[in-house]
Amino acid sequence: MLQKYQQFQADYHLFQVIKRAVYPGPSPRKVWVGPLLFVLLDDPDQVHQYLNSTNGIDKPNIYSGLDMDKDELDGEDFDINSYFSPLGLDNILRTSTGVDKRIQEDKNNKYLNDCIIGVNIFALKIVKFWLQLKPIMRMSNLYELEQKHILNGMFKMAHDLIQEKEENIRNNNDDKYKSEKPQIFIDQLFKKRNEFSFDEMADEINSIVVAGFETISSMSSTVVLLAALYPRVQEKIVDELKSVFTSVDEEVTDEKLQELTYLEQVINESTRYWTPVPYIARSLPTDIEIGSKIIPARSIVAIPIILLHSSKEIWGKNAYKFIPERFSPEKFNAVQRQAFMPFGRGPRICIGNKYAVKSIKIALSHFFRHYKSKTNLKEKDIKFEYVIFARIVQGYMIKISKREF
Ligand code: HEM
Repeated sequence: MLQKYQQFQADYHLFQVIKRAVYPGPSPRKVWVGPLLFVLLDDPDQVHQYLNSTNGIDKPNIYSGLDMDKDELDGEDFDINSYFSPLGLDNILRTSTGVDKRIQEDKNNKYLNDCIIGVNIFALKIVKFWLQLKPIMRMSNLYELEQKHILNGMFKMAHDLIQEKEENIRNNNDDKYKSEKPQIFIDQLFKKRNEFSFDEMADEINSIVVAGFETISSMSSTVVLLAALYPRVQEKIVDELKSVFTSVDEEVTDEKLQELTYLEQVINESTRYWTPVPYIARSLPTDIEIGSKIIPARSIVAIPIILLHSSKEIWGKNAYKFIPERFSPEKFNAVQRQAFMPFGRGPRICIGNKYAVKSIKIALSHFFRHYKSKTNLKEKDIKFEYVIFARIVQGYMIKISKREF
């Protein structure tokens, strides 16, 4: 499975340039990234005020149950994301489109491969924004990959899905979309079928799949890797699981999930410590005043969440340490609450935030009841690449053994 990631060698140089441009300083401040001028905002009060205002909505146009192989037990190191990735795709497809592709059962699944490569192409087109110009893209070596994996892969699957649903509706075999009860995403979309073109519908489906599958799988893998690096944390996770579940295969219910408060602290701390979306950006429709400075209309305002999450002023001297207990109700204070924004803030906050935390909790409550994780990776050697979502360059390499639960 790991070789799937290696099939696509992305050029991450530009991500590194942006990363270097983001350093602590007064807020707001100017930062040049090549020819682009950004206004950087990293004071928690200013960020909160700005992202909740009408000026903080527009995006700049640079944005355009786990099945493991038994062989892995007590075996070599492997990338746990190669399991969470098909699980994440199965789940997002099932919960948003009602399609059950059982990707977990077919490790060489073509659609999974299309999505993995598709996500990389989408990410590259955000950073190398000139690739969004069709004539330039056509000359690039990404063009063929885009045709193969996005157009004839991801889009084809979304097109087939819409066509099938339309046919079922025509033959009166599907009236789920008419229901007034809460519906899955595709039925919500079909309620507004007349307002969208065929391609816009396919676009919406692809956006949810792209935004939904890699985020959850990387985040689940991140927590498993951090728990391997911090055995004390892993022990506490398992102690809590033992107090909530009576057996290794007991079903996960909503009530049980709510009782897993320490696991949630670990997930929160993981999103603070290794911030998955390091920066977000907005384009400003009108002039605004922030921190007694006037920021002119059409500026790109960048919010480096990564700096808010690692500030010693906000999180204290141990800001650079991995301490899940900082999210306990007694310790998590108002300033930290304001600065903590792994899912963004305001009207454009991640629409999948609750779904994501729930899915990660479900996946991990299964994983840690069945397995112990260890790793040979040293934390100081771990490197990140920013492909929309932060990803570990070396892979999420762990070893597992069976846990007696
Ligand atoms: C741990 C998992 C996730 C993290 C950390 C995350 C983070 C984020 C962040 C920071 C944003 C805001 C971007 C901005 O303000 O410009 C965002 C937007 C978004 N997310 Fe997520 N996300 C996650 C999972 C998901 C999932 C599972 C879905 C879909 C089911 C999803 C769908 C979206 C969509 C559609 C947007 C765009 C909202 C808009 O622009 O109005 N995300 N996400």
